[in-house]
Formats: sequence, structure tokens, C-alpha cells
Amino acid sequence: MSLTAVQADLSLHHLEIQSSNPESLANFYSKIMDMKINKLSPEKFLCDGPARKIIITLGENKTLSNAGMVCRSENNLNRFKEFLDQKDLKLKEHNSEFYKAGSFSVQDPDNNVICFGVLKDSSPSHLKRIHAPLQHLTFASEDVVSFQNFYQNKLGFQVTDRVIKNNGELATCFTTSNHEHHTIACFKSSKSGIDHHSYEAGDWNFVKNWCDHFASHNIQLMWGPGRHGPGNNLFVFIEDTDGNWIEISAELETVHGRPVKNWPQEERTLNLWGNAIMRS
Ligand SMILES: [Fe+2]
Repeated sequence: MSLTAVQADLSLHHLEIQSSNPESLANFYSKIMDMKINKLSPEKFLCDGPARKIIITLGENKTLSNAGMVCRSENNLNRFKEFLDQKDLKLKEHNSEFYKAGSFSVQDPDNNVICFGVLKDSSPSHLKRIHAPLQHLTFASEDVVSFQNFYQNKLGFQVTDRVIKNNGELATCFTTSNHEHHTIACFKSSKSGIDHHSYEAGDWNFVKNWCDHFASHNIQLMWGPGRHGPGNNLFVFIEDTDGNWIEISAELETVHGRPVKNWPQEERTLNLWGNAIMRS
């Protein structure tokens, strides 16, 4: 029997992003995001923290090459693939250093590439680093309705919360592929691409540790601390040297099939505590 993304229990595992200076950006992630650098080639770097992995390749700044999701078992992955086959999606074989054979990718309506696979090595990392697994990815898009239709109806993600403009237009859509409030979300914007990516520290004290760590490297917060309405998570944001937005989050809501909640598009929705960065 086929499985939706939620039933297959998919989690975000890694991102592959581009930079005009991959070595410099990798040094940023190593130092500031407390990750170990592996130079795979002069133009490709793997930054590795416990449960957070970013591949940086030569290319255009602030551009996602792909986002990698993992499934815990090959059986679930195959049954998820059956679900996608019924939706007439074009699946492409995807080879990666992380996945066992059988991994594949799909393209969303904005041409973002999302990969799915089972890890070759799922043993926990022994790296001693500040805690914060990679947890969600958020896109910017001119068309959030198409995003919602694709992730909900084609991939079988669950819509958890939506932000609606005064005129009834969809401003933000949060979707999940497991019990976490969102694993992939999308903000209405005049551009398309990555909005931000987020690491779930879990506990407020870990957020404090991250902020002290950022301060020790003279990195200022660009937003927060605050608490989002949708997801109810505590957050701080910083920017990397290419201008990508990075979120450290804690207390993200867990969901188990609750109804979708709609929020008005106002500052308080984006930040219950203070000012907001309104995307559109
Ligand atoms: Fe976020």
C-alpha cells in the first residue's frame, strides 16, 4: 500500500547550496554554525555537524541545488514512491554520498529540487558540537497556492498552518512530512528561491548557547529573539556571508493530525513578542 510523505515519516537531512566562493562560505558554516569542513573538491565542501549537513558548491549565491529528505526504511521509501507514481510525477534517479541506491528527486512548481532516500549510514554522529539538527527549509515564491497544491496533493505533506492576507490571498503555507509543525514552508514574495533554513535547538538554553557562540564571533542577530505564531517556536535569525538567512529555533510545535489553522497576515503572527520581517 502506498504512503503519503507524512505516513512515510520524512525528515529534512541536508541542503546543497551554491556560492560564488564556496570555500569562504564553508569557513563561515564551520566557524559560526559549529560544523566540520570536508573539502570534497576545490569547488565542493561538505559542512558536517551532528545531524546538520550542508554541501556548498560553486555557483550562484543564495541558490538551492537540492534539499535532501530521509526516510527511515527502504520499505517506507518504496511505498512513498508508489504514492508519487500515482500522481504522475516525473521522478529522477538521484545519486548522493548520503543515500543508499534507490534514492530519487522531484521538482516542485518553482523548480526547487527535493530528494528522497534512505541513509547509507544512519549511526549517530560522534562530533562534539553545539546541539541543533537541521530541521526545516522555507522557500520564497510568487505562487504559494501552487506550492500548497504540490506539497499537499502531489507529495502528501500535511498543511498545518496558513497565513492569509486581508484580501484573502495566501501569504504563507506551512507543511510537514512528519510530526514536526513544518519541514518545508513557503512565503509569498516577489522572488523565488530560499527564504531561510532552520536548525531546531529544542530548548531555550541551547538558543542562549548559540547566541553566546555567535557573540564570541562578533555575529549580530538580524531578528529575534522572538516567538512565531504558527509553530509557536522560539527563534533567532542570523545571516551568512552570502546573505542566506539562518534560523535557530526551539520548542517547535509537534502535530498529530490537527485541523489547519489560518492566521491573519500581521506582525504578531510572525512574532508574538515584537517586530516582524514581513515578506510581502
Ligand atoms: Fe523558520
